[in-house]
Amino acid sequence: MKTLIVYFSFTGNNEVLAKTIAKDLDGDVLQITEPKKRGMFRIMLDMLFNRFPKIDNQEILWQKYDHVLLMAPIWNYLIAHPMKSFIRKNREQLKDYSFITLCSGRETQKEKITKQLKKLAKYGPKAIIEFEILKLPTYEEQKDSIYKVTQDDLNTFRQEDVYQRLLRSYSAKEEIVQ
Ligand SMILES: Cc1cc2nc3c(=O)[nH]c(=O)nc-3n(C[C@H](O)[C@H](O)[C@H](O)COP(=O)(O)O)c2cc1C
Repeated sequence: MKTLIVYFSFTGNNEVLAKTIAKDLDGDVLQITEPKKRGMFRIMLDMLFNRFPKIDNQEILWQKYDHVLLMAPIWNYLIAHPMKSFIRKNREQLKDYSFITLCSGRETQKEKITKQLKKLAKYGPKAIIEFEILKLPTYEEQKDSIYKVTQDDLNTFRQEDVYQRLLRSYSAKEEIVQ
């Protein structure tokens, strides 16, 4: 079982989680990059007009992978736009995939993410997982600034049932052990 972890990250949270998951699963990592520099203003415009920004072309050997984990932040209930572009561009290839986000956490968000994925991709996701900042014990300490996950936070996520299930389902390492 080989897993490809494709991530987009603006402030670094999804990036550190993607790299942690990749290490735990023994998976490969691919970062979605953009030809144009991104700032908060572009995020606002993307949200306002629900745009599909241009992303860099990268060759992917899809046949190498049994499962793809897509990871990106949520912006005002929307999957971060560069990830939307990636999904639309690769919709034929995304047959066995899950969506993971490290986000603040908002009510009814999962249904909204599901709807967006159904519209963008040809097939539905195997799982949607939200790792939520608002539930972290360290949240109060950083509440007044853009929250950056710490090593302690990553360890908290790693102890969650859903994280353990993810490892059991998609780990290349476990396959070797069996
Ligand atoms: C403009 C903006 C809008 C956001 N909207 C949401 C949202 O609707 N739901 C949510 O759970 N988090 C929301 N967040 C929080 C991000 O999802 C969260 O900070 C995430 O960890 C950032 O990921 P990154 O560091 O990988 O870019 C928003 C953040 C920004 C900057």
